[in-house]
Amino acid sequence: MTNTNHFNREDSFTFERVLFFGRTLKEYKDMFNLDLSLLKGKQILDCPSGPASFIAEANAQNINAMGIDPVYENSYSKIQEIILTDLNDCCNLQEQLPHLAKIKRDMVNYRAEKEKAISIFLNDYELGLKQSRYLPYKLPNLPFKDNQFDLVLSSNFLFLYSDYKYGGMHLASNFDLAFHQKAIIELIRVSHHEVRIFPLKGPHCNEHEFLQPILNSLEAVKINFLNTNYADLFGANDVLQILKS
Ligand SMILES: C[S@@+](CC[C@H](N)C(=O)[O-])C[C@H]1O[C@@H](n2cnc3c(N)ncnc32)[C@H](O)[C@@H]1O
Repeated sequence: MTNTNHFNREDSFTFERVLFFGRTLKEYKDMFNLDLSLLKGKQILDCPSGPASFIAEANAQNINAMGIDPVYENSYSKIQEIILTDLNDCCNLQEQLPHLAKIKRDMVNYRAEKEKAISIFLNDYELGLKQSRYLPYKLPNLPFKDNQFDLVLSSNFLFLYSDYKYGGMHLASNFDLAFHQKAIIELIRVSHHEVRIFPLKGPHCNEHEFLQPILNSLEAVKINFLNTNYADLFGANDVLQILKS
């Protein structure tokens, strides 16, 4: 594995934990290059979902989406507390390190969009728990049947929260290559047809070190890279599409 410690850690966009952070349906559509009209009536797994409004908004459009996240183990009030801390930490760091961003963000609008996602998520959460649309599971082992979902989505966790020295933004990550391999094989197992993963790079803005070893190890799948229009902080514009054959 190449040593990438030459990146200046102090100036970079890094965290010592995985942020419980979420995006809107519109952002999911852009990140994953989704045609929502094709998803109506389909079973979708969002893994992990965080406080994204994707599950609430998708189900309102007759898309059967279910989200998993280990933070869902917590009480509603604890989840609210984690959301606020992580939103503040993420926005504050972006304001301190504007020179790192590949895109210039209007932080007022950015924060407002995240707050919109959070508010839709929190309004839906208790009903969604009762309906088993939010489940407190985590990678790399999912308690789902083989081929259970038509489409499996995974955004802003894999690759991104690997250790900084491998291309991620976590300063003490346990999510190593073996974890990523196991997690992606698990996502493929529970998918009937297709898995999409975004982004494929972190603050180093280079292709992630784990990507090629993982792609080389996968069997009986077809790999595509789809373009995304999403304005990612690190300039990521590829979605990994894994099709089961
Ligand atoms: C930044 S959020 C991404 C949420 C959403 N997919 C999005 O793009 O807005 C990353 C999430 O990964 C979750 N997470 C942490 N460890 C995990 C694990 N082992 N398996 C699955 N999710 C995990 C965190 O709780 C956090 O909510």
